[in-house]
Amino acid sequence: MQRVPETGSEPLEHPFDLNDDTAYRRWRDNKLSGYPARATDIVVEIGDLKRPTEAECTEIIKRCQRANMAFYATRPGDSEEQDARRGLPVFASHFGLSRPESHRSAAQDGIVALEVADDDKRRGYIPYSNRPLTWHTDGYYNGPETCIRAFLLHCVRDAGEGGENSLLDPEIAYLRLRDENPDFIAALMHPHAMTIPENREASGKLRPVSPGPVFSIDPVTHALHMRYSARGRNIIWRDDPDTRAAVRFLADLLTGSEPLMLNHKLSPGQGLICNNVLHARSGFDDDGAPARTSKRMLLRIRYLDRLAGSCRPAAVNHLQQ
Ligand SMILES: [Fe+2]
Repeated sequence: MQRVPETGSEPLEHPFDLNDDTAYRRWRDNKLSGYPARATDIVVEIGDLKRPTEAECTEIIKRCQRANMAFYATRPGDSEEQDARRGLPVFASHFGLSRPESHRSAAQDGIVALEVADDDKRRGYIPYSNRPLTWHTDGYYNGPETCIRAFLLHCVRDAGEGGENSLLDPEIAYLRLRDENPDFIAALMHPHAMTIPENREASGKLRPVSPGPVFSIDPVTHALHMRYSARGRNIIWRDDPDTRAAVRFLADLLTGSEPLMLNHKLSPGQGLICNNVLHARSGFDDDGAPARTSKRMLLRIRYLDRLAGSCRPAAVNHLQQ
């Protein structure tokens, strides 16, 4: 069981401490009250990606406090790739996102184009195909020093058919697991709950073995972080009954009818900004066009930072009591 580090002389209550059921219940009730029921509840119109107004930023942060994610919708002109490439880092900086990851498939501007591709860097990876992507958080194979805490996805062109995202706030996944059995949370917070074996990438670079918890608490922000992949291959789960049962429960939750799961197909000019929420993608097709000529393109930037100000006010106030 992981205790939350204490920063002052007074011990802090914390909802993610398994020893503090009172704090958890308070946080849980607050989390569920008024939680967005539909993707349209978290859409914010943005006039100019490069110059979001204070009111627009506030609306985005409010939705991220509630659900750890928001969709933004820009004017059609902003759907042009080069405009979006210029605008996205500026837009992200308004939310304290200043440390992008360095990714092997990124262009010089640090932005990855998610599209059907078969160049040397992208061939063979499912994100660059039109196949479905199973549930995961981004960078689940990374070590703690390159932990992905937030990402942006921006739609330049959508697919004729499919390419819809399903999204689940990791705090909702935590809540369902803890309500079912707190031992599930203890098992998934174990430092060796989930291990990604070492892997030789196409470039020849060796990615070292990466053990870690599924749920962890950021020692600075006290925010919940989730690291997960539903992939059957190349994931080694800790071999104990609680871990196996927790992983089964989580898989059932994600493939079942969780009412707070959000589904949305991004249109050109729309994007997702989030604290690395759980997500999946349906397969897609472009009106019968062969996969290699698919026109769908999403731009992605991932950050080592969490969205500034996205801790829920209730949680922050509570921590400061
Ligand atoms: Fe992803």
